[in-house]
Amino acid sequence: MSLPFDTAAIPAERLPELLGIMPKAELHMHIEGSLEPELIFALAQRNGVTIPYASVEELRKAYAFTNLQSFLDIYYAGASVLLTEQDFYDMAWAYLQRAAADNVRRAEMFFDPQTHTERGVSMATVIGGLHRACVDAKTALGVDAALILCFLRHLSEESAFETLEQALPFRDQFIGVGLDSSEVGHPPEKFARVFARCRELGLHLVAHAGEEGPPAYVWSALDVLKVERIDHGVQSTKDPALMKRLAADRIPLTVCPLSNLKLCVFPQLSQHNLGQLLDAGLIATVNSDDPAYFGGYMNENFLQTFAATGLDAKQAWQLAANSFEGSFADVAAKKQWRDELAHCFASFR
Ligand code: HPA
Ligand code: ZN
Repeated sequence: MSLPFDTAAIPAERLPELLGIMPKAELHMHIEGSLEPELIFALAQRNGVTIPYASVEELRKAYAFTNLQSFLDIYYAGASVLLTEQDFYDMAWAYLQRAAADNVRRAEMFFDPQTHTERGVSMATVIGGLHRACVDAKTALGVDAALILCFLRHLSEESAFETLEQALPFRDQFIGVGLDSSEVGHPPEKFARVFARCRELGLHLVAHAGEEGPPAYVWSALDVLKVERIDHGVQSTKDPALMKRLAADRIPLTVCPLSNLKLCVFPQLSQHNLGQLLDAGLIATVNSDDPAYFGGYMNENFLQTFAATGLDAKQAWQLAANSFEGSFADVAAKKQWRDELAHCFASFR
């Protein structure tokens, strides 16, 4: 594609500034993964919940992960402080303020209702607080925010169906469903029927696949669940036929570089395959996943990844353009953000 500006004229030393100011969409973040240790402690105190860490510092020290499961254990413990509608609002509002500061124009936020309903917190409490923050973000922050309900794949399909049933009274307050939690041993096809039902309901469909799991899980997310995007998907480079399929069908991959680093999916950020995914023509995007746990929000993911891998200004534009294209926003909003992105690059001196 020919661009309406000359990215070669942007010197490498100015790239960090451009990465920060360029408008972008975040398509893969778990709102419970935005709970900073300070907020976990504040909410624990407010709600009289005890957590097995003596201080903010001690909790932060526990954030040394070896794989996905070692993270999930702490992530679910952190989420246990959330009880009231206001807690969910405060958590989402804190994230949306940070997103706005990183020039995120569109945020599609995952939430894990089963983590809360299993503790006796109602679906109305969870969705009510999160949705209120989304509404306020539009007017107060200029961030277009939407919710995607995730099923926990380590639980049963029956539990997913129950969760969907509980969420349907709030159908107009979330735009789609996803699949997250422990990947290996819980292939997408375990949720074939519940995803088929969600498809009938007109919900958007996404799934985590190929984070730690094999390319076969990406294939079955596409062919069995019929998802529109793959969350992570970085293992796809192991399967050339899958790479061709993802490129041909323009399936966005919501890649999370700092998450991959912290969960040891790649030993070093310099070895991340984001550049390879872009070179293969895939609609790859950059996202923060669980920013409070993995060391950074959107701009930090862009800055560290570009510094480590040597991606250039043209790839920065491509990633931001991909993020808008891959979003579930309406056509008019996408066009407005694309124009704003072009203007940002064209006027950058
Ligand atoms: N992978 C799977 N499940 C998750 C993640 C993740 O990176 N973050 C929160 N739940
Ligand atoms: Zn994720």
